[in-house]
Order: sequence, then structure tokens, then C-alpha cells
Amino acid sequence: MTRFSQELLADTAQLTLRGVGKRYGALTALHGIDLQVRRGEVFGIIGRSGAGKSSLLRLLNRLEPPSDGQVLIDGQDIARLNQAELRGLRRKVAMIFQHFNLMATRTVAENIELPLRMAGLPTPERARRVDELLQLVGLHERRNAYPAQLSGGQKQRVGIARALVLQPAILLCDEATSALDPESTQSILGLLRDINRRLGLTIVLITHEMEVIRDLCHRVAVLEAGQVVEHGEVWQVFGAPQHAVSQLLLGGPTRAEYPAELAPGTLCLDLHYSGAHGLEPDVQALSTAFGSQVRLLHAGIERIQGRSLGRLRVAVTSAQPAERVLERALTVADRVERVNPRSASS
Ligand SMILES: Nc1ncnc2c1ncn2[C@@H]1O[C@H](COP(=O)(O)OP(=O)(O)OP(=O)(O)O)[C@@H](O)[C@H]1O
Ligand SMILES: [Mg+2]
Repeated sequence: MTRFSQELLADTAQLTLRGVGKRYGALTALHGIDLQVRRGEVFGIIGRSGAGKSSLLRLLNRLEPPSDGQVLIDGQDIARLNQAELRGLRRKVAMIFQHFNLMATRTVAENIELPLRMAGLPTPERARRVDELLQLVGLHERRNAYPAQLSGGQKQRVGIARALVLQPAILLCDEATSALDPESTQSILGLLRDINRRLGLTIVLITHEMEVIRDLCHRVAVLEAGQVVEHGEVWQVFGAPQHAVSQLLLGGPTRAEYPAELAPGTLCLDLHYSGAHGLEPDVQALSTAFGSQVRLLHAGIERIQGRSLGRLRVAVTSAQPAERVLERALTVADRVERVNPRSASS
């Protein structure tokens, strides 16, 4: 990273972790974590079970103190806050959970109102805020229902409304959609995206669902054994995951066989699209580059953050020498690999 972009990041960072470690007795759950989350971004954390994701999240609202290092929010070390400032932090940083954590004996509206009561707001203002939040999460009709009468997706909407009722600046989500069916997951993701855009809320979320990262996050960090092993823009990490764990979590390219019946003089090539240079897997460009003798064998392309990422496997028959064909291929893709029969099934 250049000095300029570091300064730029420092200027817009809302959350900064410096050399953060966390130990539970003899167990080291986190160590040497350096991370910055920018104001207004959706930041994802992925990693295998036990990697330390939830431990990391709990440090961000001082639910637990770090064993080493510092957690800064808006430049302030949250370990040094006095009681009044700590109450301010709790309002600023809200959290939602996998299992919603709603009060079963209270209605939707009462659940949402609870943090306002605890903060001592007067009744008319509480009623106004609850109405606003019910509107925001689309639960006005169900305001007098009890949690047991709601679907999972509706319960999470209540969880979100309750989290937002004190107008936080940061929302932490620990596997907020893991207990939901695909349709409810989509609607909750839509709501979180809307909240991020409309309210400018910074969101830090943990998930085991890679499509949540792909659809919602701007940047992502990969945790492994308590350390950040990779982080960056979502399209970069998804397009070319560097660490073995990221590759495992994100899955390599889909399986493509080496064609059994390739004629002699035909080259099998993988054309990789990393998203870095705006190249599109354009069939017209392929036939211009190679002439008419190009056949598409397999395509695995997806669009993330407006960029095309993935791979095309093509068979090119040409009278030109292989080097010349590879040269041509480099005009249409970010990286080109010649596929040999033995290495072909990856
Ligand atoms: N309160 C605690 N006391 C002792 N050990 C803990 C505590 N919380 C977490 N750990 C340990 O710290 C490590 C990291 O746990 P953590 O819950 O942060 O992982 P995770 O990445 O959130 O996993 P998962 O994906 O399964 O939720 C694990 O080895 C866990 O057993
Ligand atoms: Mg966890």
C-alpha cells in the first residue's frame, strides 16, 4: 500500500485494531490482528469454525477486553473509556445475533422499545422511534405479535430494529442469517444493504455463507487460527484468493474436464479473468483474437462488485506456433494457462 492510500485509510477508518490479541487462559484465540474498517463500509469476516471470528467481534463493543493491543473507535481507545463514555459506546455499536435473542414475553413493539426504556427516553419519543423502526423493517402490521408467532426472517427484522433504535453508527452481525432459509436470508441481506446505504451505517459481519460476502460486503478479511491471513476488496479476494484457507472457503474454479477428443495441433487454454483490468470474457474478442477456430469448452464467470471474475476454458486450433497463440490469448484475458491432459481436472 502506498503512503498516500495509508493516510487516506487512516483518515476514513472508523474502527482500528492495532496488534490485537485475545487469550482465554492458556488458549490464544487471536494474535497480532491489525485491521481497519472504514466509515460506512460493509466489512465481512470469514474463517473456519474456531478461527476466532466471534472473539474478534466481541472486542469491538468491549463485551470483552483484548489481552494485547488496542481497539480504537473514531480514534479513541475503547479500553480507556469511563463509565459514561462506555454507555456512549454501547449506543454507538449495536449487535445482532444468529438466534435473535428476543424477549419471548414481549411483543414486537415492546422488544424494539426496550433499549429506549433502558436509556430513559420519554414515552412520546419512544413511541415515535418504535414506529419509525417498525416502518423501516416492514413489520408495522405485526407490532403486537409475540416472537413465537413470527417467522425466522421476521424475528431477525425485530432484532435489527431493536439494534438500530438507539441510532448506532456501527452494527455488528454474528452469523445473522445462518438460522434462516434462503428466501429470508435474501430479504435480510436486502434490509442490511438498504440500512448501510440509506443510514450510512458501518457494518461488520461474520458469516459462513460466501454469497453473503459476495452480495453485501465491500471488503473481507479471512481469519485462520486467530490471525488475519488475507484481506482486501471482495472482488480481489474472491477473484484470486491467495491463502490456502481462502481458497478452501471460496472454492476453486469449477471442475472442467480435459476434452478427450482434441485434434492434433489444438491447444487447450484456460483464460483467467481477475477483474483487475476491466477485461470482459467477450466471445467476439475471442474469435477476433484466434480466428474462427476457437471452441468454448467450459465457462465459470461471475460478476462481483461490477467486475467479471473467473475462467474460460477454450480449445484453439491454429496453424500458428503455440507461443503466438498464447500471445494472442493474453490480449483478451488477464492470465493464460496452457492446459495439459494431466493437469486438466483442476
Ligand atoms: N469464552 C471463551 N472461553 C474460552 N475459550 C473460548 C471462549 N470463546 C472462544 N473460545 C475459544 O477461542 C477460539 C475461537 O473461538 P470463536 O468462537 O471466536 O471462533 P469462531 O471463528 O467464531 O468459530 P465459529 O465459526 O464456530 O463460530 C476457539 O478455540 C474457542 O474454543
Ligand atoms: Mg462464532
